[in-house]
Amino acid sequence: MTDDLLLGLDLGTTSARAVLTARDGRILATHAADYPMDTPRPGWAEQDPDAWERAAFEALSACVRAAPAPSAIRGIGLTGQMHGATLLDERDQSIRPAILWCDQRTSAQRQAIERHIGLSEVIARTANPPLEGFTAPKLLWVREHEPEAYDRIRRVLLPKDFIRLRLTGEAAADVADASGTALFDVAKREWSESMARDLDISLEWLPRVVESPETAGALTAAAAEALGLPAGLPVAGGAGDQASGGVAAGIVAAGDALVTIGSSGVVFVAGDQPRIDPRGRVHTFCHALPNAWHVMGVTQGAGISLRWVRDTLGARDSGGDPYDALTREASASPAGSRGLIWLPYLQGERTPHLDPTARGVLFGLTTAHGRGDVVRAVLEGVAFSLRDGLEIIQELGLPARRVKIAGGGARSPLWRQIVADVLGLPISLEPEDRGPAFGAALLAGVAVGVYASVQEACAATASHSHEVEPGAATRDVYEATYRLYRDLYPALAGSFAEVASLQE
Ligand code: XUL
Repeated sequence: MTDDLLLGLDLGTTSARAVLTARDGRILATHAADYPMDTPRPGWAEQDPDAWERAAFEALSACVRAAPAPSAIRGIGLTGQMHGATLLDERDQSIRPAILWCDQRTSAQRQAIERHIGLSEVIARTANPPLEGFTAPKLLWVREHEPEAYDRIRRVLLPKDFIRLRLTGEAAADVADASGTALFDVAKREWSESMARDLDISLEWLPRVVESPETAGALTAAAAEALGLPAGLPVAGGAGDQASGGVAAGIVAAGDALVTIGSSGVVFVAGDQPRIDPRGRVHTFCHALPNAWHVMGVTQGAGISLRWVRDTLGARDSGGDPYDALTREASASPAGSRGLIWLPYLQGERTPHLDPTARGVLFGLTTAHGRGDVVRAVLEGVAFSLRDGLEIIQELGLPARRVKIAGGGARSPLWRQIVADVLGLPISLEPEDRGPAFGAALLAGVAVGVYASVQEACAATASHSHEVEPGAATRDVYEATYRLYRDLYPALAGSFAEVASLQE
């Protein structure tokens, strides 16, 4: 009998990536199609939803063509970049480019929401502050700055849900992705009527909400024909990329933790109740399985820090992988980087400071420092920032029981070891191809009955990964360096705000 096959699609920030999986978790095909990100002004980030659509269809149909038996494909799961505002008119055409998660233009709107409703009230209603990158402040920005566009809005969708609309004709969101809109009651897993009312945003614009492993739509005849699949094939609710990446790595039971080092860095801990930081320093979102939540700390500049070093200080024409060359130099520098400290705030910071004006700092430089020390300080600074997130999550009563690590940065053995040492926890490496798209395929498998539950899907596909133990020899130097790292932000916060305004 042919195996049951599943498709997962991750509508990421730089590309749409599809995977085709078998029931046991083998990846049979994968295809990525890129699209650009526009930065019309510093701090802005936009994308054309039609470019998403073209890339999503390309990635999915390439996987269908590669399938040993396309008729064995049982369903499609969707995941993607969170928080984006995709604004559609009465004909479901996009009104303006989507405003993305990393767009920072909405500080005035965020402050207005906090003034109007009260920060602690917003946290009580939605479990989180209404951060710049979240969806609601973006709607307010469009209302203020582009009133003609605002008047034409009939639907507001998260990025991956725009693809769902094109695949199935249905407007739906899942609870995990909806959690990052500032319009969602994360504890009750439903839209927050009071947020919509107080912000004067029409609830009718928002799609119906489903749990992640539920079916939410079926392929239309036109989409099916374009993809080479049967009409009516189920499309699962899916999840935002972090929750879906959590499912991919089997992070579903309370205390399971995942550290992801991508462009940004994330510490993600699964929980069985919504644990909320009254100061809003970490995000509390619904997880991609019923009755589960997760808490997450996000450092904005993880892989981005290392890319910046590569682009500005790296020996780019040395041949070979420039990241390998840089981390080789870093491994010659001792733990603590000879007293050099990096604050990874190149793009402002979310956890723990919630400060879009924070800026990168290389602290403690002397003539004795070389490039290897700088690179090592950068790797350590990102690890310190991840520890900030983990410590807050622990304060909320959710200690990490076991930790996995994933994302491009986890490919570096040195970076993995530094993270294990700085967190003081053993860490196991997830296989590289087990990203959010893989999690979305698992969610589709639950929706169509290939697996009985998300837990069963994770158990059926579990990977055996290599574990890194924290080293005893570096403990003291990392403790001392981390304490110093923690002192730097409060000392500099006022100056950050000033320098950020000079940079405007
Ligand atoms: C999560 C977040 C990112 C984006 C882009 O809060 O902002 O994970 O979803 O990947």
